[in-house]
Amino acid sequence: DAAAPIDPAGIDLDSIDLSDRDFWVRPPAERHAVFDLLRRERPFAFFAEPEVPMLEPGPGYFAVTRYADLEAISSQPAIFCSGQGAVSIQDIPTDLNEFYGSMISMDDPRHAKIRRLVSKTFTPRMLERVLDSVREIVADVLAAARRKAEAGDGTIDVVADIAAPIPLRVICDMMGVPEADRAMVLAQSNIILSGGDPELVEDQDDPLTAFLVAGMELAGLMERLAAERLAEPRDDLTTALVTTEVDGEKLSHQEIASFFILLLVAGNETTRNAISQGILALSEHPDQRARWMADPSIDRTAVEEIVRWASPVTWMRRTATQDGELHGHRYSAGDKFLLFYGAANRDPEVFADPQRFDLTRDPNPHVGFGSKGPHFCLGAHLARREITVTFRMLFDLLPDLEVAGEPDRLRSSFVNGIKRLPARLGPAR
Ligand code: HEM
Repeated sequence: DAAAPIDPAGIDLDSIDLSDRDFWVRPPAERHAVFDLLRRERPFAFFAEPEVPMLEPGPGYFAVTRYADLEAISSQPAIFCSGQGAVSIQDIPTDLNEFYGSMISMDDPRHAKIRRLVSKTFTPRMLERVLDSVREIVADVLAAARRKAEAGDGTIDVVADIAAPIPLRVICDMMGVPEADRAMVLAQSNIILSGGDPELVEDQDDPLTAFLVAGMELAGLMERLAAERLAEPRDDLTTALVTTEVDGEKLSHQEIASFFILLLVAGNETTRNAISQGILALSEHPDQRARWMADPSIDRTAVEEIVRWASPVTWMRRTATQDGELHGHRYSAGDKFLLFYGAANRDPEVFADPQRFDLTRDPNPHVGFGSKGPHFCLGAHLARREITVTFRMLFDLLPDLEVAGEPDRLRSSFVNGIKRLPARLGPAR
């Protein structure tokens, strides 16, 4: 990163642009120094929208960084809606918005209906089966990482060899995606979640086409799987999705494809980054690592702290449906708000000593999985299980794992991501 470091004492807020992808590859301490200042001095700071080729520039957005403001907006979905776009800063056509966001970009009553239908398919039996299989998947992935290190120079990439394959395999198993299609699923979801990072989206003059093509590839796969399951049902989520009904209504294939893309967007990259950022945080806080390794009774609080600390989803958007006032801020219908979860998760009004990584923090009412309101993460239970099992098994199976270099961060304002994180297994060779 060639950018000059931010000096927390001398931050000029007028020079900060949260829409600038380069801001998001700065070290977390620098970003949090900016958030501290925003929370204190400009709780509804206004930013211009990033330019995207082929899209009309919009009016800009307000950055929500205080916990109380974020909670108030999230819990009033009739006033601050998701339907005009939750995962894009720009307004994009409604069908495209729903295609990429599925229920995350919808408002009630349609959102409630789809969520009910999808929740019905996350039956306790289905979830139990998946949760049971997480141990097996993690054991498999960690054994492969060990083999790779032993066959090579002792090094691995935490992201490619541990953090990415675990949630990918969990979701693909849940949906019944065949082995042969999984490399494609990973590649296309990486493009959709790239935030336009030039490493993943080569044509910077036309990033929209890259997203569209990636989405169509995934939709095509789901169309195929859905047709196969209709002909021959199996015990997987795709079968449940094509057969389940709410009030006599089924999901269309298009809706199933959108939901599949949402699962990858909301469940795959997020869990991946919670794991990779958690491994990085433990390596930076060896006392905490030793404590957790020795004491499984702190599993629950440790996982919540990792999600608070990493805040893998940087923001979700809401749009005002009417004029009004919130905590002294006057807004108009159509105003856009970006809810910066990672900033709210370090708000000293709610978290004592918020810049301290403390695996025993309790209570920990973080908003990493979203805040109060209808869109709270549907996969939080599953993600918690994946993260817990991964760390417990890492301590057992790869206790010698050591981070051996700097993280290569994703150039994206949307996902707080790590693309690569070098690590070593066993003594240095
Ligand atoms: C919603 C974060 C894992 C499925 C959300 C939202 C956040 C979030 C912040 C709220 C969106 C909003 O308020 O607009 C995370 C994080 C995860 C994670 C940090 C991992 C550490 C998962 C997993 C799944 C999943 C594993 C599924 C397998 C969903 C779905 C929604 C959602 C379907 C939309 C719910 C709705 O709109 O009603 N997630 N998520 N997430 N998440 Fe997660």
